[in-house]
Amino acid sequence: MSAVNVTAGETGLTKTSPKSPASARVIIFDTTLRDGEQSPGASMNLEEKIRIALLLEEMGVDVIEAGFPIASNGDFEAVSEIAKRITQSTVCGLARAGRADIERCWEAVQHAKRPRIHTFISTSPLHMKFKLQMAAEQVHQAVIDSVTQARNLCPDVEWSCEDGSRTEHDFLCRTVESAIKAGARTVNIPDTVGYAVPEEFAALIRMLFDRVPNIDQAVVSVHCHNDLGLAVANSLAAVGAGARQVECTVNGLGERAGNAAMEEIVMALKTRHDRMPFTTGVKSEYITRASRLVSAITGFVVQPNKAIVGTNAFAHESGIHQDGMLKHAGTYEIMTPESVGLGKSTLVMGKHSGRHAFKMKLKELGFEVGDNALNEAFRRFKDLADRKKDVYDEDIVALVDDEVVRAHERIRFVSLQVIAGSKGPQSAELELEIDGERRSAKTTGNGPVDATFNAIKQMVPHTARLQLYQVHAVTEGTDAQAEVTVRLEENGKSVNGQGSDPDTLVASARAYIHALNKLLTKRAKTAPAAMTA
Ligand code: KIV
Ligand code: ZN
Repeated sequence: MSAVNVTAGETGLTKTSPKSPASARVIIFDTTLRDGEQSPGASMNLEEKIRIALLLEEMGVDVIEAGFPIASNGDFEAVSEIAKRITQSTVCGLARAGRADIERCWEAVQHAKRPRIHTFISTSPLHMKFKLQMAAEQVHQAVIDSVTQARNLCPDVEWSCEDGSRTEHDFLCRTVESAIKAGARTVNIPDTVGYAVPEEFAALIRMLFDRVPNIDQAVVSVHCHNDLGLAVANSLAAVGAGARQVECTVNGLGERAGNAAMEEIVMALKTRHDRMPFTTGVKSEYITRASRLVSAITGFVVQPNKAIVGTNAFAHESGIHQDGMLKHAGTYEIMTPESVGLGKSTLVMGKHSGRHAFKMKLKELGFEVGDNALNEAFRRFKDLADRKKDVYDEDIVALVDDEVVRAHERIRFVSLQVIAGSKGPQSAELELEIDGERRSAKTTGNGPVDATFNAIKQMVPHTARLQLYQVHAVTEGTDAQAEVTVRLEENGKSVNGQGSDPDTLVASARAYIHALNKLLTKRAKTAPAAMTA
């Protein structure tokens, strides 16, 4: 491995090669729907992927990696649909270095206004020997062949050297040069196993600028995993060394410990523009909304102290801090909550607000819903306003999200009565509408949640296993809405369901029913004749 000298104290953020790009614009490449979805349990259905993609586009993400088309029919369908719907961002699909992968990827992304094929192969000695069982020369030829094939189909091709940070430098330079010569417009250097440290990673990027003769004909990209908690630091160090595309995910979702968190990259560049004079096209005010949407859809809760999007990220608890904040917000706040879209929780409307005002509010919150969903959401809003003293923006978002995901459900919640408390048995009387027909069941259980879920199982027999049951409050106060996530697993496939309501048990029933509806859709796609509810 060739040596790279890094002088003491060098941060990697300022020292660049003469071939470093003049542009200060950093391309944000979001891979929440591909690498993010590869996190066990984070699978999303088509409708959910489309919702996330539309929001990513609205927030100004440059490239959306929508999936891995050859991986499954579901992935293929999601990439094609997203390609058809997205008009501003580039839509990218992933493909291994093989003819079938690349053809399938092109089939899916070709509908996009700005399609991209992202093809990759491992280049580290370890991966080539044990994973690929290929000699370096064969890998080098595969790079040329795959990029050439992709370029013959699509003008925008990205090439990645998987495990790039552990690749022998001479070989890395050779493959990068060949990929660019074969037509790659972007060369991506992944720290696949999250092993690099910032100075070393910046030096690696600089080494490429110094040694690869045609490096100025491509955008250098980085893709850092977070196994040592250094994904964001490594990505920023690489930007300082000349990288102009960062691959990242909302909430840092991704394989194992995840990828670099998009919100952290964007806000670090924005807040420390003095030290890192680079810009992105992301409208940071969308960050909180994107974080909540991805968290609600995947069921992956954001840790309270997570930078930028954790619930405590802008909370000031200690007396000294609160006193400082009252005197001058800058004492303890380096960016404003508003800059990440965390407005002061606004009191929106009360029970006297009309349908028109409600529709206007939805528009302001970024929702365009059809008439049916609007009517149902308005009915639930009125119901909520009757039961809850203050209705906040967050309540409306939770309620509409809940309604949108339920638009085409076969099983619908109607009503629930529960007997809970210390004197068992706890029981639940549940009414559902299944394929338009009302049914009810009364069951007992080991606690009210169990009783409620047993009632659902009695009306809709199934063998799916409950993998996750999680509750969190949408706003503060004891009358806050509960947002529940339920994960069900059947035949190795898992689905997440969400439900919200001021009553935690109603929210739980809604979440379970939502997950069950998703399972029915999944089953219907694989074996239409065998579908029963
Ligand atoms: O982590 C990785 O190396 C990847 C590549 C496919 C870009 O996800
Ligand atoms: Zn990855």
